[in-house]
Amino acid sequence: MVEHISPARSLSGTVILPGDKSISHRYGMLASLAEGTSKIRNYSAGADCQSTLRCMRALGIAIETDADQTVVHGKGLDGLSEPAAMLDAGNSGSTIRMLSGILAAQPFTSRIGGDESLSRRPMQRIITPLAAMGAGIDARDGKYPPLTITGRLLRAIEYKLPVASAQVKSCILFAGLFADGETKVVEPIRTRDHSEIALREFGADISYDHGTISVPGRPHLRPLDLYVPGDLSSAAFFLVASQIVGESDLVIQGVGLNPTRSSLLDFLVGMGVRIQVLDVQQTNGELVGNLRVRKSRVRGGRVEGALTAALIDELPVLAVLGAASEEGLVVRDAAELRVKETDRIAALEENFRRMGLRMEARPDGFDVPGGQQFRAAELDSFGDHRIAMAFAVAALAADGPCTIGDAAAASVSFPAFFDTLQRIAA
Ligand code: S3P
Repeated sequence: MVEHISPARSLSGTVILPGDKSISHRYGMLASLAEGTSKIRNYSAGADCQSTLRCMRALGIAIETDADQTVVHGKGLDGLSEPAAMLDAGNSGSTIRMLSGILAAQPFTSRIGGDESLSRRPMQRIITPLAAMGAGIDARDGKYPPLTITGRLLRAIEYKLPVASAQVKSCILFAGLFADGETKVVEPIRTRDHSEIALREFGADISYDHGTISVPGRPHLRPLDLYVPGDLSSAAFFLVASQIVGESDLVIQGVGLNPTRSSLLDFLVGMGVRIQVLDVQQTNGELVGNLRVRKSRVRGGRVEGALTAALIDELPVLAVLGAASEEGLVVRDAAELRVKETDRIAALEENFRRMGLRMEARPDGFDVPGGQQFRAAELDSFGDHRIAMAFAVAALAADGPCTIGDAAAASVSFPAFFDTLQRIAA
């Protein structure tokens, strides 16, 4: 599918986001392990989170979805059954990495794989700790999907994460639910803590102390009524869009404001973006609120170290903002961008080149000069949802209509993205 985007003079109105992708995955998996029926409102309709539900169904969990909610009939820690076929994680790195932690403890062997992009993503980062816990895992070339996972009785380990990754952390914590003893994950750089919050809500006795997360094995997880906040990483596209067209005033409703994710807002405010956070509430241990954002004078910024890990999903659209800002954007310590749904640094370079924008790529980041003019171009998603949406945003500021090839990739996290963009653009 090719999407046509016309330049916009202003953006106004209200944006409603899909349910947070990270939180949806966790609720889908943990509700399956709970002892009874959980109801989840605002579960993400994105293809990735639907991949998680498809896998849980294939593992014997009954799940019903209607317009209002997703109902998961959890069967407890020992309730999963051997799947008849290979589990299909689609495009979803979160599904394969986090679910592998659960599969590693099952009394059966399972296979899990996905699409072409997923088949190129590194799995060594979960194989090493799960093997240390006692699971048997075979991977293509020792490191890529599909994975063949032979479940075993797992032993608790203490594991220091060599890469800042919430998916890997969650994989180990989920495996730890089945282990004999207390599993500890040491996190040198803080990553999103949705698993920790969700585990506590479901009743696991999880604790956090100076970068070490501990979870005792064999908890009884209770079923819950849950609400998934709007996805802040999806909000990022509209926050940036509001800054690169003429005049804008947007309200983004019901956005998840978890502090391990909301550095995005602090960073944008630091660049000069006028954002108001309104009506903050807590739901299932997660913060949620409304955002009002108005067109502002945007200076520039630098992202490195722990901040890079906190903004990793937003860097493609921040690169677009950098080009339109006064002083540009510098990004370092972001080698992880090269092993996302596509090599996001290479994808940025190529679409920047097509729009006549300058950028200097490095192995672990890039420099984008500010004050640049966006030229109309034929752009590509490279099969990556965040690249599709970042360049749909860039296209709003171009000097003529643009196209985005394989724009359907956006539906991995935000099926209504292009409709929403069209509704608020004038
Ligand atoms: C995610 C963690 C991040 C992020 C991804 C979702 C999660 O990946 O990029 O979109 O839900 O835990 P890594 O764990 O690979 O950093």
